[in-house]
Amino acid sequence: MGNEVSANFELFNNAADNNKQFITGELKRLLVPGARVLEIGSGSGQHAVHFVSQLEDVSWQPTDREPYFDALERNLGGITLSGVRKPIYLDIAQFDIAGSFDAVFCANVMHIMSADLIPNMMAGVASLLDSGGLFILYGPYKYEGAYTTLSNEKFDEWLKSRDPLSGIRDIEVVQAKAKTNHLDLIEDIPMPANNQFLVFRKSSEN
Ligand SMILES: C[S@@+](CC[C@H](N)C(=O)[O-])C[C@H]1O[C@@H](n2cnc3c(N)ncnc32)[C@H](O)[C@@H]1O
Repeated sequence: MGNEVSANFELFNNAADNNKQFITGELKRLLVPGARVLEIGSGSGQHAVHFVSQLEDVSWQPTDREPYFDALERNLGGITLSGVRKPIYLDIAQFDIAGSFDAVFCANVMHIMSADLIPNMMAGVASLLDSGGLFILYGPYKYEGAYTTLSNEKFDEWLKSRDPLSGIRDIEVVQAKAKTNHLDLIEDIPMPANNQFLVFRKSSEN
C-alpha cells in the first residue's frame, strides 16, 4: 500500500503504487527542474502526487475522463501540493485541450483505450509539445507481433475478454503513428512487471 497521502485515494491502484519508484528514477533523469508535464489518464492521481513530491519544482497537470475524473478531482482536491494542478477533463477521443508542455506522461492507458484512438493521441500530444519535448509512455507492448512474456499474453486475453477494443499494442504501430506526428522513439527501457518505458522526442516539423 501507499505510504503517502494517496494511500486513501478513491480508485487507488496497487500496480501504480508498485511501479512509481521505478518510473520516478527515469523521470528524474529526463525532466529538468521546473518542467511542465501533462499526464493523460491520471487515474486516481496517485502517480501525480508521488512524482511531484519527488521531482524538483515540477508542474504536473493531471487529466482523465469518466469513470475516473470525478474521483481524481476529489482525491486531488483534498491535498495541498503546489506542483499538482487542478485536473482537466481529457478524453483522447476528442483531445480538445490546448497548452504548452515540456513533456506528456501516460501510464497504462494504451492497452485500455481503443487502438483506433492512437492517431488522435499522437496528434494531440504533438500539439502540446515544442521541438525537443518528450512523450513518455509506460506499459506493456508486443514486438513483431510477439508478447515479451507469457504473463503479458494472458493479460492480453483477459483485457480482450473484458473489452474487445482493449489489448496490448504492437510497438511498431505505436512508433509509426508517433513518427507521423514528428515524435521519434529515442528510448525503450524494459521495466519490472513486463512493462516498457518508452520515450519519444518531438522533432522540428520543418
Ligand atoms: C489502468 S488505468 C491507469 C491509470 C493510471 N495512469 C495508473 O497508471 O494507475 C487506465 C486509465 O486510462 C484512462 N483512459 C482510458 N481510455 C481513455 C480515453 N479515451 N481518454 C483518456 N483516458 C482514458 C482511464 O480513464 C484510466 O484512468
